[in-house]
Amino acid sequence: MPICCIGAIVETDLDAILTIERQSFKRAWQRSAFLEELACDYAYGYAVRCKTDNNSAQIIAYICFRIIFAEMHLLRIAVAPRWRRRGIATWLLGKCFTLALEKGAEAAFLEVRPSNRSAISLYRKLGFHLVAKRSNYYRETREDALILKKHLKEVL
Ligand SMILES: CC(C)(COP(=O)(O)OP(=O)(O)OC[C@H]1O[C@@H](n2cnc3c(N)ncnc32)[C@H](O)[C@@H]1OP(=O)(O)O)[C@@H](O)C(=O)NCCC(=O)NCCS
Repeated sequence: MPICCIGAIVETDLDAILTIERQSFKRAWQRSAFLEELACDYAYGYAVRCKTDNNSAQIIAYICFRIIFAEMHLLRIAVAPRWRRRGIATWLLGKCFTLALEKGAEAAFLEVRPSNRSAISLYRKLGFHLVAKRSNYYRETREDALILKKHLKEVL
């Protein structure tokens, strides 16, 4: 795992985040969706910064989630392609689970495409399990959405 730090997303981070977003999702969020999260009182966004070869700090991953009463809803997580498979998503999610617990959340929820094998494998490793399926949820591919849940107290 490279040496990285986590900080709250600010508007000036969005160009870097949008680049990773477009590399990572079939239906990428637009800038307006991130701005909506930044303006929302119960939304949280964190970027992972890492020192690159030329010693400057570069955003290599990010996460967006909301905490609604006792539920953490994971909306977005992505790691830049060249930084994947180094434990960054596992580490970032662990930090956010701790934060969500401190804020009173008891369970985390997310939705994922059944074809997203890497994400499903990540979530299963972290203790998520299937609680529901939404048929034809992703319009462009007519894929179902899998709804996964994790009890936060089990993780730490
Ligand atoms: C899913 C994603 C966030 C994982 O990030 P990451 O930093 O590479 O994940 P980690 O290194 O922490 O991997 C943890 C585990 O997840 C699973 N995993 C991650 N990438 C995988 C892949 N390409 N193939 C199979 N399993 C994978 C493995 O079980 C892995 O553990 P291991 O490396 O010990 O085998 C990243 O692939 C990504 O940004 N994908 C595009 C965006 C996306 O799909 N987000 C989730 C939407 S629901």
